[in-house]
Amino acid sequence: MSILADIYSEAFKNMPEQKWGVSELFELFSIRETISFVICTDAEPIGFALLRIVADEGEIITFCILPKWCNNGYATTLLGRIIDTMKIRSIKNLFLEVRENNEAAVNLYKKCSFKIISKRKKYYRNKQAEKIDALVMQYQFNK
Ligand SMILES: CC(C)(COP(=O)(O)OP(=O)(O)OC[C@H]1O[C@@H](n2cnc3c(N)ncnc32)[C@H](O)[C@@H]1OP(=O)(O)O)[C@@H](O)C(=O)NCCC(=O)NCCS
Repeated sequence: MSILADIYSEAFKNMPEQKWGVSELFELFSIRETISFVICTDAEPIGFALLRIVADEGEIITFCILPKWCNNGYATTLLGRIIDTMKIRSIKNLFLEVRENNEAAVNLYKKCSFKIISKRKKYYRNKQAEKIDALVMQYQFNK
């Protein structure tokens, strides 16, 4: 668990309100509806995603790749694997929330066919305590 907490804290180090440590991640993992996906190179984890599945809907709770491995297509691979698994599990919709100004993540999700369906005004804060909107995005299966 601590290796995932290390990846998480490194990936989100510029996002002050994302402060999950080992105990918070452990708590999330222990919820029955939570499933995780880990991506490795040479058996070393370099990124992971946590999802919550309830009935035929899924939500990506968090998703990250270690910065030093970014821009190599690993997030695209991980998200593709998640989508394939959700299809097998007959999930109808997959949702997530992302900061509007998180260009890398928004581009990734758009590239993987997620669509923006709504906006949560002033949902996040940055280091300067400015409020930032969240985009709610959806991947629809069986379109
Ligand atoms: C967002 C994140 C997961 C992308 O991981 P990655 O492995 O670098 O992504 P990929 O290499 O698979 O790139 C996929 C697409 O994302 C977009 N992208 C990735 N990095 C980008 C950047 N720095 N700027 C703009 N777009 C970017 C591009 O559209 C890219 O497709 P392309 O290479 O065909 O142009 C990673 O930057 C990360 O973990 N960030 C910190 C945590 C985070 O923001 N998580 C999402 C929270 S909702």
